Amino acid sequence: MNRLIAVSNRMPPENGGAGSGGLSVVLDAVLRQRGGLWLGWSGRVCKAPSSAPRISESDGVCRAALDLSCEEHAGFYLGFSNSVLWPLCHGAVNAPVHDATHYATYLAVNQRFAAALLPLLRPEDHIWVHDYHLLPLGQKLREAGSVQSTGFFLHVPFPELSALQGLPSAPGLMQALLAYDALGFQTAGDLAAFHRAAQWQWGSAVLQADGSLSAEGRRVTVGVFPVGVQVDDIQREVHAAQQSPAVAAAGVLRRGGSLLISADRLMGSKGLRERLLAYEAYLALPSANRQRPCLLQIAAPSRLDPQAGAQFGASLQALAARISERHACADWTPLRYLNRCFPHEVLMGLLHAARVGIVTPLRDGMNLVAKEFVAAQDPADPGVLVLSVFAGAAHELAGAIQVDPRDTRATASAISQACDMTLLERRERHQEMIGVLRQHDLRAWHTGFLRRLRSGQDCGRQPY
Ligand code: G6P
Repeated sequence: MNRLIAVSNRMPPENGGAGSGGLSVVLDAVLRQRGGLWLGWSGRVCKAPSSAPRISESDGVCRAALDLSCEEHAGFYLGFSNSVLWPLCHGAVNAPVHDATHYATYLAVNQRFAAALLPLLRPEDHIWVHDYHLLPLGQKLREAGSVQSTGFFLHVPFPELSALQGLPSAPGLMQALLAYDALGFQTAGDLAAFHRAAQWQWGSAVLQADGSLSAEGRRVTVGVFPVGVQVDDIQREVHAAQQSPAVAAAGVLRRGGSLLISADRLMGSKGLRERLLAYEAYLALPSANRQRPCLLQIAAPSRLDPQAGAQFGASLQALAARISERHACADWTPLRYLNRCFPHEVLMGLLHAARVGIVTPLRDGMNLVAKEFVAAQDPADPGVLVLSVFAGAAHELAGAIQVDPRDTRATASAISQACDMTLLERRERHQEMIGVLRQHDLRAWHTGFLRRLRSGQDCGRQPY
């Protein structure tokens, strides 16, 4: 088996402990399964970062961590990656502001990642680059002489053509994608959006019958590989989490009425505000009085710069407090808003304890919490998932009650339907979704993508 080289911006913290965000959790699991080398940002920002990564090794995985300078963090991470690309991919209403200095820093950091990786490579390695922070990395590696098979996976949605056309750097970024041998997307919708962008950039002749791309002497194989979870691992975590005080407290809440749960990072695209308003509308329905529901809204601190994050967090906290005050009585608190992170195992225990999971982002590449909620349920007495049609997971989880999260009344009535669902229907829906999760699990994701990368190599890769 060829050695796997994974490159992502985010890695778990060097001192151990839980990584934040779905991407670092899944890559951690993949590397533990396959072994290999993982290069990424250490999470540290310092004045004069060393150009050489800090290398450490454990569990058969070599980790190479790079620090960022303050300027790089501002321009590459907070700037171009998260203030331009993230909103662009998540269909932001206001067009993101393009800043030429931030874009130059974005390219320079990609260059720095390439320079740091090159000396660590062996010719037969397979390189797998992840997500929007590192779109140009393949190109930078090729320019520096890398010959290895190299693939790229986009965890977030591929932007709509109309949005992409407004971005001055879009042609350059599309061009950079030609350096890869394989491109992977979460859903068929993302692949279709990529095909539209490719036709805009190179004309309709570039698309081959098998969906791959031929342009400028390069052939790039493409495919859909929905990122998944390992159901049995999550069940083990649920079991282990039963001792945790937070999970025990959730058990008490569940005995007092219907326990509902949502867990997101504090970001606009997660639809937290819309969800709280829909929950408030549900509380006004007669059925809510009977159910005595309690929504546990976990809002983990986000990557936003501290000032913007604090403002957004404060506005949600105020909304949650208003809803709570209006509806709470001496023996019932209908909303608990927790602005903090939980270890993954504890989160799985909390998802297990809930009767309803509400996962309603305005746009999301996949949303692993939706899949984790289903995997964490007791098959004999499972909870119900209320899921946004705009999450990538909605393509696979037909057994969820699917809603448009911007429609307050429809979401409120979906919550009511979920709370009232019979055991028979809950079991049927859950069984169907667990079947899908087992079929499209994490192993299927990485073996599927890496097989595609190899097949591109076998059918005669053109040199860059
Ligand atoms: C989530 C998203 C990924 C993204 C990551 C970035 O996991 O699903 O697509 O790469 O967040 O997180 P970070 O903490 O590095 O900003």
